[in-house]
Amino acid sequence: MTMPREQRRVFGEVADAYDDVRPGYRAEILDLITTYAGRMPRTVVESGAGTGKGTVLLRSLGVPLTCVEPDPEMAALLTRRFDGDDRVSVVVSRFEDWNPPPGGVDLLASAQAWHWVDHTRRTRLAAEALVPGGVLAVFGHDFGFADAGLRAAMHAVYLQHAPEIADRPGRPVHTLHPGAFDPEELRGSSWFTDVEEQQVETVVSYDTARYLTLLSTFSPHRMLPEQQRSRLHRALADLVDARGGVVEQKLTTGLWLARRLS
Ligand SMILES: C[S@@+](CC[C@H](N)C(=O)[O-])C[C@H]1O[C@@H](n2cnc3c(N)ncnc32)[C@H](O)[C@@H]1O
Repeated sequence: MTMPREQRRVFGEVADAYDDVRPGYRAEILDLITTYAGRMPRTVVESGAGTGKGTVLLRSLGVPLTCVEPDPEMAALLTRRFDGDDRVSVVVSRFEDWNPPPGGVDLLASAQAWHWVDHTRRTRLAAEALVPGGVLAVFGHDFGFADAGLRAAMHAVYLQHAPEIADRPGRPVHTLHPGAFDPEELRGSSWFTDVEEQQVETVVSYDTARYLTLLSTFSPHRMLPEQQRSRLHRALADLVDARGGVVEQKLTTGLWLARRLS
């Protein structure tokens, strides 16, 4: 019996491409986390580490870092990346199934991956993973466009070829851009306090071919039937080529911070 393909499991299908084209995270994100924490964390766990784009940043803290990543292909690349680094350990597991160390860790971070953890349990699981006073840091990119004209033209292409994944006015930003997160979930919980939100903006240029590769790493694109995805990508490539062959991707990196109540 073949199992249905799950959207949260599609990243490993393109692990190398993901690692090649997905943007990493600016050092400011780590500065904001450590400033918020007020002291250097002694232990860190990262949920949904993927190929290590956020891990690289967290590793620079120089303290033991456990990466929890369920996809075997993503985890294999991550393991190769930190081969020989005895501060980094990789656990192939969903965050929901991972057992935190007794007493908890000082910092739980998740880059572009917290939305894949069961929404009904993740706040409690985060609290259980942290020491009292420990910090939860959720961050991720919202992929926008520097050129509003290109954005509008692209939107028309999506409406024609894949309306089911086109932006829709009124849809909450955290469902549209899974890197985003609704902090009300933490504010409304009895486990966390001092909830804060920060943003960092960056512009990254992609030529047409790399832009298509980038799109092929987004799970809504991966879930489209192959023929439909090819038609959509061809039409987007034609559009980008007609406008000079470059997409200036405006990344708004959101960072949400919260402290576990003592
Ligand atoms: C968009 S990728 C982000 C990877 C990396 N953190 C980054 O910033 O590039 C999302 C990752 O979350 C992982 N993931 C999916 N379900 C998960 C779960 N239940 N617990 C932890 N990670 C999960 C996926 O396998 C994937 O590697």
